[in-house]
Amino acid sequence: MTIEWYPGHMSKAHEQMAELVRRIDVIIEILDARLPVSSANHLLAELRRNKPWIKVLNKNDLADPVVTKAWVRAFEQQTGIRALPLSAKQHREVLQLPKLCLRLAPTRGKPGRPLRAMVVGIPNVGKSTLINTLAGKAMARVGDKPAITTCAQQIDLRNGIILSDTPGVLWPTMSDQGAAYRLAATGAIGANALDYTDVGLFAGEFMLARYPDQLLTRYRFPELPESPTELLEQIGRRLGCIIAGGGIDLHRAAEAFLRELRAGKLGRISLEEPEPTAVEGESDVARDEAGIEP
Ligand code: G4P
Repeated sequence: MTIEWYPGHMSKAHEQMAELVRRIDVIIEILDARLPVSSANHLLAELRRNKPWIKVLNKNDLADPVVTKAWVRAFEQQTGIRALPLSAKQHREVLQLPKLCLRLAPTRGKPGRPLRAMVVGIPNVGKSTLINTLAGKAMARVGDKPAITTCAQQIDLRNGIILSDTPGVLWPTMSDQGAAYRLAATGAIGANALDYTDVGLFAGEFMLARYPDQLLTRYRFPELPESPTELLEQIGRRLGCIIAGGGIDLHRAAEAFLRELRAGKLGRISLEEPEPTAVEGESDVARDEAGIEP
């Protein structure tokens, strides 16, 4: 399966972003904490111009806390980068963001010298939700259709910070199919760009390998299904996803499975981890220390 994604306004958005970077003090990049690499805009590193860069690991309420900690450590090893895990729906957590911006640009945020921050993120990562929470009122439209924001807007937070909201940007073609599947598994890619059964099988394979206990807990399987197909079949059978002739409707089973995964019903799941050499050992230690089952 190849996922193509190239709405016309995307390249224009890259130009706008390059122009904007010149004029701002801090870059706020919104990532999905569950997949901070695949949900990144890879052009941003080229356009950055050494501006302080905050990587917001959003939807942290859905991500594996141990893995998120490892991501923060990994990102903050890079010069000029700070990582901030949060849930854009939680006002208290979101308040850390303006504080961090002001720490990174201490000469700004004063009368006559506002701090200008650019907010960037791929569609569906929670940018509108975050801006709404920050601004305290419904300024940016929130919805589940990727690429809903189409023109840049300035938002005065009235605390010395002015946000520039850039249009949602996703790279034109996802050459890495793994990234495409991970994005699809979390719902970042719209329903018309993917095959539910394929994505369900991909997510099932991942969960069987990485989070088998969560599957056992959620579905009360007597034992772990041996393959992703068997997993979807068992889920389909439970939910009555049956086609004429008595077979399992894998498409509907995959849909149900992905819905649960996206909503966090299977627990807090991260689909990407930092490089194993740097973090794997530490991650296991941190997990042991925290008393969290792998
Ligand atoms: P975008 O501007 O980046 O495209 O994303 P948007 O804010 O529209 O958010 C996309 C979806 O992600 C929304 O769900 C939103 O509620 C959800 N979301 C955003 N931030 C968080 C978070 O920190 N945690 C969780 N769990 N979800 C988050 P939706 O189902 O499309 O809409 P709705 O639930 O708001 O009706």
